Amino acid sequence: MEMGAALTESAFPLNHQRLPRHVAVIMDGNGRWAQRRGYPRIRGHVAGVDSVRTVVRQARKLGISYLTLFAFSEENWQRPNLEVRALMALLSRYLDRELKEMQDNQIALRAIGDLKRLPGAVQQDLARTIEATADGAKMILTLALSYGGRTEIVQAVQALAADLLSGRLKPQEIDAALFRRYLYAPDLPDPDLLIRTSGEYRLSNFLLWQSPYTELYVTDTLWPDFKEDDFLKALAAYQERERRFGQTREQIAALNNTSSRH
Ligand code: IPE
Ligand code: IPE
Ligand code: MG
Repeated sequence: MEMGAALTESAFPLNHQRLPRHVAVIMDGNGRWAQRRGYPRIRGHVAGVDSVRTVVRQARKLGISYLTLFAFSEENWQRPNLEVRALMALLSRYLDRELKEMQDNQIALRAIGDLKRLPGAVQQDLARTIEATADGAKMILTLALSYGGRTEIVQAVQALAADLLSGRLKPQEIDAALFRRYLYAPDLPDPDLLIRTSGEYRLSNFLLWQSPYTELYVTDTLWPDFKEDDFLKALAAYQERERRFGQTREQIAALNNTSSRH
């Protein structure tokens, strides 16, 4: 197995000093994966869970600090009831089955989204797993569930407006850093890399506030087919990018030189 891992790495060589700190993934294409095989869509979701396992393991192994997975959007509530129920059941089963591995590998689970909309049993499973893994110090695995970026922002505005009205906050105190404190996970850094599978070039309401300078990577690979190699390829592509944050290439080069001398 060790040799296989080495071969995979060499196909997409990585600079381990320049890995993204936070990788977010829009796990898309389960339905198409199933339909192409003549299966019901739900089988695609079942197969997708294996890719979740693979990517979580590999991110942890590589030393990525934050991994955020878009598992269920606010808009996904509109899907056929049977599919929604199957997804919720899969989620509970995943939490149950992965708990030990998360604990063994010091992975802390978190969740973002309008979690109150989840079935009570799923909310309980989530809360239990979050609590049981809270000590995990090596990687934060965040599941976006019942998540919508606009709703996140609107809910933040509601809480902020309440603090304004109660006098706890003055309008002139509001800036981006303060606003962030009202989001679902204020301590989560912005994603450095956002991967979307299945060839769709859109954000689908994911991490709207958090992604102003996130590097986007879209692959045609459907989520259930996304494995170690595909993840390494995305990371290698990220390392080819020049992140300028609005500055010039020369400024960025000068910055990189100073920081590498320290
Ligand atoms: C992503 O796969 C999983 C969820 C949105 C829950 P899809 O179910 O969206 O798969 P496609 O896009 O229909 O192929
Ligand atoms: C985005 O995929 C949501 C998740 C992956 C959970 P969708 O399949 O819901 O996105 P659209 O509808 O193609 O934009
Ligand atoms: Mg889809």
